[in-house]
Amino acid sequence: MLAIIGGSGLTRLSTLAVAHREVVRTPYGDPSSTLLFGQIAGVDAVFLARHGHGHTIPPHRVNYRANAWALKEKGATGILAVASVGGIRDCVPGDLVLPDQLIDYTFGREATFYDGSEGKVVHVDFTQPYSPELRAKCLVAASAAGLTLREGGVYGAVNGPRLETAAEVDRMAGDGATLVGMTGMPEAVLARELDLPYAAICVVVNHAAGRGDSTRAISMAGITQVLEAGMDRVRTLLDHIAPAW
Ligand code: HPA
Repeated sequence: MLAIIGGSGLTRLSTLAVAHREVVRTPYGDPSSTLLFGQIAGVDAVFLARHGHGHTIPPHRVNYRANAWALKEKGATGILAVASVGGIRDCVPGDLVLPDQLIDYTFGREATFYDGSEGKVVHVDFTQPYSPELRAKCLVAASAAGLTLREGGVYGAVNGPRLETAAEVDRMAGDGATLVGMTGMPEAVLARELDLPYAAICVVVNHAAGRGDSTRAISMAGITQVLEAGMDRVRTLLDHIAPAW
């Protein structure tokens, strides 16, 4: 069963025919939202709203461990994460991007299930943070849906909730990051620790600070507009990905 984690602009999934909802508790606390089980285009899927159904949980307060654990426990066999991002290069607002790499700039988050309490030290391989198989399915689905999904990108995960300074974005660009967002980590690595294939569909909602039309400031009104149109396309994309899962 495919799990979808929806971010800003995707707290509800109209294409999911909800069969039942479940409040799940985990050893790591409560997930961000009730889990919605149902079908997308006739295929079983489960949906979780990363920031809560009312969009009340900021990125640094999301219980990433509980979210991943709950999805695994309830039978998810892969996670497709949807996230809005700022574009650093190789993309413009409105684009959908499928990153193939990430750089983690977050701090102070519970970022592992292997925190020593089991009495063993585990280092998971994370060379390819996003599942090549799941990414390939996304690309096939995008072309079937007639949507442009940019292949590849380096997701720079920042802590937020504030946006970056222009100098921080310059530094990230120097590191090789092409996208910047606040939720990609530790979500991706926790999925890996649970052996769940994970991929992210990123909706570019603004030029990152200091770039393009964000030279002086980032327009929140602009973000809202791009976000809505972008998420409509994501829903179409999900309709085509679910049957391929
Ligand atoms: N920076 C960080 N996170 C974001 C941005 C951004 O510019 N846009 C959307 N999420």
